[in-house]
Amino acid sequence: MRILVVGGAGYVGSTSVETLIAAGHEVTVFDDLSTGHAASVIPPAGLVRGSIQDHARLESVLRERRVEAVLHCAAKSLVGESMAEPGLYYRHNVSGGVTMLEAMRRAGVSRLVYSSSAAVYGEPRRVPIAEADRTDPINPYGATKLAFEGAMRWFAAAHDFRAISLRYFNVAGATQLNGEDHEPETHLIPLVLRVALGEATHVQIFGQDYPTPDGTCIRDFIHVRDLGAAHLLALEATGDAEPSLEVYNLGSAAGFSVREVVEAARKVTSRAIPARVVKRRKGDPPVLVASSRRARRELGWQPQHSKLEEMLSDAWAWRLDHLRGYAESARPPETATDQNGSGVAAAEAMSRS
Ligand code: UFG
Repeated sequence: MRILVVGGAGYVGSTSVETLIAAGHEVTVFDDLSTGHAASVIPPAGLVRGSIQDHARLESVLRERRVEAVLHCAAKSLVGESMAEPGLYYRHNVSGGVTMLEAMRRAGVSRLVYSSSAAVYGEPRRVPIAEADRTDPINPYGATKLAFEGAMRWFAAAHDFRAISLRYFNVAGATQLNGEDHEPETHLIPLVLRVALGEATHVQIFGQDYPTPDGTCIRDFIHVRDLGAAHLLALEATGDAEPSLEVYNLGSAAGFSVREVVEAARKVTSRAIPARVVKRRKGDPPVLVASSRRARRELGWQPQHSKLEEMLSDAWAWRLDHLRGYAESARPPETATDQNGSGVAAAEAMSRS
């Protein structure tokens, strides 16, 4: 299948590209590199640098590459930033997303898989959370993810789109080539590993007075490799589906507390990792655990890497291998010029070893 991965230079996108290539698909990455890294795009995937707001550019790439399906992983995804800058989130995640849907419609591409989020549920009324449970986001990030799902649903009804939305819980781990490298970093595991590397003195634990066994929040971690496998299955499932939007949770159905994560990281890294309890972070639900039964039943998804230690040790191995993240392999990719004069980069084998 010829697949366009929009946002394919980010953490989730780049690792999924690896899975798609290994399964024999022809992959083009479309990314504005605002948070992604050119060095994360592995050959033979091609990299087209462009904005999701650029309707004409998207349409021409879809046509030129004769794209059959789109994996959409391009989004602004920081909860705190979304509270401060809701306009940015609506512009990228909703308006940008709809621009992409329009480009797909014009180019005659109707198969779509979307990176959604557990953030659409807000404060769950029960756990594990099932797809039919109430969606009531408590921040603009979750609200924009949900709004785009709405747009997909109506494009399915009006234009025969066959779309799947995957609501991820907490993504962790790394492949050998690609891992998590954000600036600023706000996620627990990469921050814990920064402390293990001596880049920070301690990790902050945001609240120890939650109604959980050890008082810290509980999250459902999913290995980024398992996420890649789910993307592949979902893309394949859009092939003979009826026009519709289907929604699936992706998690491991097991929750780990913040304290358990820190403790497991101490074991995996054999480093002390000092931790200090500080006050709660705004907008953190006490427990987020997914029911992924539907994805297992209907997509045949079987997570293979659900052990927290494996996620941590893979993330740790990647960090040890990339002490400066992607900064050390960042050099401008070679660019060729396509018919429209847009830069098309042949992904290089970056020096990641
Ligand atoms: N945490 C700390 N200290 C830190 C960072 C995080 O204690 O330095 C805690 C948080 O309070 C939370 C847990 O670790 O309880 C996990 O926090 P992350 O920031 O790693 O992840 P979130 O659960 O906040 O975010 C995830 C996804 C989001 C999604 C959200 C849904 O990354 O994209 O779940 O609520 F929106």
